[in-house]
Amino acid sequence: MAEKFNVSKKEWECLWELGNSYAQPSSKDLATYFESGEEEIGKVLSVHSPAHFGIALDFGCGLGRLARALSFRFQKVYAVDISDTALNRASKLNDDRKNIFYCLNDRGDLNMFNNASIDFIYCARVFQHLPSKKSVADYVKEFIRVLAPDGLLCFQVPSQVRFMSRMAGNQVYEILKPILGQKLASRFLIRMLALKIEEINEILACTNGKLIDKIEGNSDWFGAPSYQCFVIRQCGEPIIQVKSIENEKNR
Ligand SMILES: C[S@@+](CC[C@H](N)C(=O)[O-])C[C@H]1O[C@@H](n2cnc3c(N)ncnc32)[C@H](O)[C@@H]1O
Repeated sequence: MAEKFNVSKKEWECLWELGNSYAQPSSKDLATYFESGEEEIGKVLSVHSPAHFGIALDFGCGLGRLARALSFRFQKVYAVDISDTALNRASKLNDDRKNIFYCLNDRGDLNMFNNASIDFIYCARVFQHLPSKKSVADYVKEFIRVLAPDGLLCFQVPSQVRFMSRMAGNQVYEILKPILGQKLASRFLIRMLALKIEEINEILACTNGKLIDKIEGNSDWFGAPSYQCFVIRQCGEPIIQVKSIENEKNR
């Protein structure tokens, strides 16, 4: 596993072990937690939807509230996450949903999925926590590679990170992590990034993806403004495959 991923994976395992406060329900709140996923997916698919409801991919699935909602609408759902802890819990919480398949991601690409094979890709509250804008760009390119020609990609990313959360999420995090240790730092801090619309357009410009709509709203972190981007794949243009460090090593 590449070093960058190793660090990211350790951070997320730690967060999940500690009890990631905003993505983890108490057992009392489980019904509300699942309802929130149902509401979110219902809303998204009422705005735009793919031509077919065959295969969906929930990238950064956490405990699977969105994968669960997708499993009622699609024949098969891939729930992908960087954390074994999250995936284990997600599969226990959703063991009544037999059409969800859990996949551990420890790479900067989506090598495990074939070109043009997924009808709907959903990714929310994940990009903001990635280590760099380059990692976001690499995943977006891969999403478009694996998206079916008449499929739909919907991803969310903050357009701005508020001063306090930028401080807490980045500078302070990097400084305090070695001092406090991963566990203590993870209790209070989380990495945050944002993308301007020009940066999203720049990423899409080197793919055959086309932004068909964007909804502006708030991300959950300090109410920072956020984009929900809807993207389709334009046919007849080259498909880009991101070459991650692991790909290079495997040659
Ligand atoms: C804040 S949680 C959001 C969970 C879920 N999307 C939701 O909205 O309920 C972010 C999730 O992204 C996962 N994640 C972070 N980096 C990832 C990566 N590179 N690949 C896959 N999952 C990742 C984390 O483990 C975590 O489960």
